[in-house]
Amino acid sequence: MNRTTFPDDFVWGAATASYQVEGATREDGRGPSIWDTFAATPGKIADGETGDVADDHYHRYDEDIRLLAGLGLKAYRFSVAWPRVVPTGSGAANQAGLDFYRRIAETCLANGVTPYATLYHWDLPQPLEDAGGWLVRDTAERFRDYAALTQDALSDVISHWITLNEPWCSAFLGYGNGEHAPGRVEGADSLKAVHHLLLGHGLALQAIKTPDNTVGIALNPAPVYAASESDADRDAQRRVDGLRNRMFLDPLLLGKYPADVLEDTGTAEWFGRYDAELRLISAPLDFLGVNYYCPSTVAAPADGEFAAPGGPTTQPGSEKVVAVDTGLAKTQMGWGIDPNGLRDILVQINTLAPELPLYITENGAAYPDEVTADGTIEDPERQAYFEQHLATAAEVVAEGLPLKGYFAWTLMDNFEWSWGYTRRFGLVHIDYTTQQRTIKNSGLWLKTFLGR
Ligand code: NOJ
Repeated sequence: MNRTTFPDDFVWGAATASYQVEGATREDGRGPSIWDTFAATPGKIADGETGDVADDHYHRYDEDIRLLAGLGLKAYRFSVAWPRVVPTGSGAANQAGLDFYRRIAETCLANGVTPYATLYHWDLPQPLEDAGGWLVRDTAERFRDYAALTQDALSDVISHWITLNEPWCSAFLGYGNGEHAPGRVEGADSLKAVHHLLLGHGLALQAIKTPDNTVGIALNPAPVYAASESDADRDAQRRVDGLRNRMFLDPLLLGKYPADVLEDTGTAEWFGRYDAELRLISAPLDFLGVNYYCPSTVAAPADGEFAAPGGPTTQPGSEKVVAVDTGLAKTQMGWGIDPNGLRDILVQINTLAPELPLYITENGAAYPDEVTADGTIEDPERQAYFEQHLATAAEVVAEGLPLKGYFAWTLMDNFEWSWGYTRRFGLVHIDYTTQQRTIKNSGLWLKTFLGR
């Protein structure tokens, strides 16, 4: 298997996100985001680190995009930092912010790389959080305004847009268990964030869609399996699948929220008030992005057993489910490796929307890489992870699913949110002391795979 196993027009790329790589958090008029505030709060980030410097991509983007192109990749998925472009979240654009993303896009184009811009990869301007964040409707409208002015300013160099990245994380890690910024623990109210995020998506889609561009959204759906056929375990499966997958896929693709989820969480009345907005939320997408890492298997808790925090159970009602270890080999994140889960989730989505083009907008693995004496970085597990998931992707394409592209997560090691710099997902190794970039063996393997 290599690139020629896939159609010629299959899109090959790598992804990053603004706060994870850019640094320069106070430069050229960028305003503070919820991640600046959260990372500066003691105890929130594993190594006490922040994104203040990160990979210094703000100054080294040219080298980084050349590295990406040098691997044979033809697409770069990056994110636009809202607080760079609209520093307080609302009002006029900061020209220096727009200029930076123009430089990124132009550098891509000069290197034969197609830019794919994500408009929201979690760095909400802090003033908007102070006004209620994603728990209030106004944030969705401000997102639309920011998306519209960004698209207007850059439409000559960017024609592929992703509105939101993983709204499940924004809602349930940001406002559910507080593991991510803004670190709020709001129980079932976190479902209001789901609606406002999806409304923001719908408003932005309406505002930025033109005949010349493609607009999609990147979700993190994952197959959820029941540990047994018992009614109790199947009910646990239904709950987790409901919040993880159906709560996003159903409104976007079918124009309705899953009634069982609203009932379980006591939010049916609140959601009922906004039924009319589902028309906007379910407006046709040009593509759906799927970020896939691992599946989950769940069970009902035994009497007296409490659900462990984190993983698939990080959501309202989590006391009713437990994650089950099925013995899969794991990456350093503790995430089970199962390429067949990729097939299952793509099929689940394709069943809802048979014609909709799908992209794998993220897929990858963290491992504690070994830098050898001669400076090479040996990461055979990461290479194997890519090989296995690409083999499944090839099968899925051969079976006729409309899978159109694959973006590796990630181009280079970076700030892994609450894990700080302790988890490395890159094809390229970053020495955080010198900012030296070194292509890992998995990156060299990918270059050969791509035949460039
Ligand atoms: C999904 C997120 O979009 C990305 O920001 C993160 O680094 C990876 N998963 C790995 O956790």
